[in-house]
Formats: sequence, C-alpha cells, structure tokens
Amino acid sequence: MGTPTVDISTSLASFELPNPVLTASGCAAAGRELSPFFDVAELGGIVTKSIMMKPRSGRSTPRMAETPSGMLNSIGLQGPGVDSFIEHDLKWLHESGARTVVSIAGHNTDEFVALARRLYDQPMDLLEVNISCPNVENRGQVFACDAIAATRVISAVRRAANPNVPIFAKLTPDVTDIGYIARAVAEAGADGISLINTLLGLVIDLDTLRPALGGVTGGLSGPAIRPVALRCVWQVHQAVPHLPLLGMGGIKTGKDALQFILAGASAVSVGTAVFHDPTAPIRIIAELSDELAARGFSSLRDAIGFAHLSSEQQAAYFAAQTAVPVGR
Ligand code: FUM
Repeated sequence: MGTPTVDISTSLASFELPNPVLTASGCAAAGRELSPFFDVAELGGIVTKSIMMKPRSGRSTPRMAETPSGMLNSIGLQGPGVDSFIEHDLKWLHESGARTVVSIAGHNTDEFVALARRLYDQPMDLLEVNISCPNVENRGQVFACDAIAATRVISAVRRAANPNVPIFAKLTPDVTDIGYIARAVAEAGADGISLINTLLGLVIDLDTLRPALGGVTGGLSGPAIRPVALRCVWQVHQAVPHLPLLGMGGIKTGKDALQFILAGASAVSVGTAVFHDPTAPIRIIAELSDELAARGFSSLRDAIGFAHLSSEQQAAYFAAQTAVPVGR
C-alpha cells in the first residue's frame, strides 16, 4: 500500500492556494533571495517585507540579537518605497509565477490608504495590513494594540483597496485580549487575520552594559514564541471562527505547522527558520502532508481547527474516514 495522498489545498478568503505554506513578512525580502534554493512558485505564497510609501533606511545598527531559541530584530521597516517595490519586486514575483501577499505598513491611516490605492491595480493575491510592527517610533503606532486605532486603519484600507483582493490584518500578541482586537478588525472589514507579529523584547550587551540593539527594543521571533503564537491562533479562532487565519511564530517543521492548523489556522507562514535553512518552507510542505496522512486526515481543510472538537467529534470524523460505503 502506498502513502495515502492528502489534499493540502486551502484558501485564505477568496485566495486559493495549492498548499498552505507561505513565507513570513520580513524574512525573505520579496522572495527573490529564496529563488536560488527552490522555485518560489511552488510555495503557497510569498509574503513580502512590509512596504511603506517612501524609501526608508530603518533603525540604527545593531539590528539583530540572538536569544535562546529565537532572535530579536529591530529593522525599523527598511525598504525601497512602494514605487520601486512595484517596479522591481512585484514585477519579479509576478513573472516568477509566485502567489503574492503584499504587506503594507504606514505611520498613520492616511499612509495605509495611500498604499492601498497605489497597489489597487497591481498583481497580488492578498493584502496584509501590518498594524503590529513593534519597531516604530512610538507605541501609539502599534495600531493593533488598540481596537479603535486598528478598526480605523482596517476599515479605511478595506474601502480604498481593490474589492477583489482580500485584506488580512496582522495582529500583535502584546495585548491583554487578542480575541477582542480580532473581533474589532473583523467588524471593520478584514477578510482574515495574520498572527502573530513578533513580541516586544530587549537584550542587554554585557560588554557595553547597554541595550544590544541600536533601537533599544526589538521584536522576538523563532521557536521561543511558538506556544504564544499557538495560543493566539486558538483564541482568535474561537473569537472569529468564520475568519480564515494565517498562523506564524517559530514554525520549523511539519509537526509545528500541523499544530497551527489544528488550532485554527488555514495556512502558515515560515519566517525565522529561513535564516538558517532557506529550504525550510518547501521542506515543511512535504512534512505537513506526511503528518496529516499519518494521522488519517484525507484533507488539510478537515484538520483546520480540529483541536477544538471534542474527543467524540474527532472519533466520529475518523470513523467516517474509514467507513466502507454501503453497496461496495
Ligand atoms: O522592524 C521591522 O521592520 C519589523 C517589522 C514587523 O515586525 O512588522
């Protein structure tokens, strides 16, 4: 008997994906740097580094610090600005046949709206609205920490963006009640939610006796944050069960990815892992498929949110999978 095949196709609102593994914003620029390792069109999608209206040099150096099972970054939304991004990066992604999620970031609602308008006719599959970057000048710009600010950005972007392109709000775990923020952005018109962005952290350099990062604080990512990310996916799935979730936070293997799917994610992003293994996203597609098959799932869609079912409901699903239809 051969290995059972599992249908691993999925969807993020109207965006249909042949498999559920994407890159995470900020960890592979606009995907081109992964192309020496694999064909980027084979991924579920590429999520680009958050783009702003104008070119931006970002925060002062050092910008990265190693932490136990993770890393701290303080990039500060460095980027070429939206015009250059469209001309070079988005064009390249389109020509490469990659499914593309464009991430946008703004200093204020007006900048988010201007970005949505500028990108209106551009080739893309989904717009990720990054309202949770921790590396900004003041905490008031972490819009996702405040339901009213988050709502203002998401409803304005939903009105300005191409209605055929789903928009996802990217949330921060650094809040008291992420379910409350999720409900707010859902009511404001988000078609789905990406979670989580990095957690705000700090490292002190014991040689200089000063913060290790030029920007003082930074965003913590990597396997250290996986349980936090999973908890957020679980809570947001309960808060807005009708919305698709793109889950991320320390995913290194197919087993990690499966935990996110079972908690309620329809797809996952792989971020920090690509810094030491650029092939991780492609490897994880195959591993996830094997993990689903090993547990008796015939499709990935059946596994989404499966951990929320009771043992009896789970048993009924597997019994139905193995039942021989009458008349055969
Ligand atoms: O600093 C940065 O560019 C990070 C962005 C983010 O985490 O959203």
